Amino acid sequence: MNERKKLVVANWKMNKVYVEGLILANTIIAGLEKNQGAAEVVICPPFIHIQTIYNMLKEHLKLHVGAQNCHYNYQGAYTGEVSAAMLKSVGAEYIILGHSERRTYNNETPEIISKKIKNVISESLTPIFCCGEDFQIREKKEHFKFVKSQIEESLFDLSAESFSKIIIAYEPVWAIGTGIVAEPEQAQEMHLSIRDFIASKYGNDLADVIPIIYGGSCNASNSKMLFNQKDIDGALVGSASLKAEEFLEIVKNRNNSPNN
Ligand code: PGA
Repeated sequence: MNERKKLVVANWKMNKVYVEGLILANTIIAGLEKNQGAAEVVICPPFIHIQTIYNMLKEHLKLHVGAQNCHYNYQGAYTGEVSAAMLKSVGAEYIILGHSERRTYNNETPEIISKKIKNVISESLTPIFCCGEDFQIREKKEHFKFVKSQIEESLFDLSAESFSKIIIAYEPVWAIGTGIVAEPEQAQEMHLSIRDFIASKYGNDLADVIPIIYGGSCNASNSKMLFNQKDIDGALVGSASLKAEEFLEIVKNRNNSPNN
């Protein structure tokens, strides 16, 4: 048994109007009451659902609520933005940062992501930092180098103390929303390479306790094999998190994995 936190994170993206979101959260909570295990479960809905889902959480369940983005400043004249402090004030504990969709559609640079990470840590929230290569980079066999550079650019100026708060999500862009999941061995070798890279900067003790989760077309049927890999500590789940039964099955697979 290793000491790393095991977790399954739901990334609802821009889906579910208010009532639909509550129904989904309610069904997930009811399912977790019947089948609770060691894994932490984090629901990252659109902003509008956060407070209500937070109010629905039951203390005995390992269930938390998070957000999919935030601004890097505490407050100010940033029309349309939401800060980490605001998200914390309505119950968010985790914030997904650097997702490839935000890098692509919102032009988020490594510098912006780095500022967001620092702000989230300063609010005592947990950043879930996403990294991953696209298909062309993998074709050129530059994926290890690329993912390391993403980590270096946005995270390696953190102190060891701050770095210890991070969760890494390896999400190959070619697997996100495509139905093409990484082979468990492909994901494992990348997770191990990320862990080794963290160790080269912060030492083995810290690298050993950083959760590294996988994202990209993870579903009920492929999650079992992924979770059996030694360095895969959980999953960041997009489309399969919008179906309560399927998401609960993924949580069950995480809880039943021999790699706990
Ligand atoms: P997907 O999305 O599970 O729909 O591939 C994962 C993600 O983007 O976090």
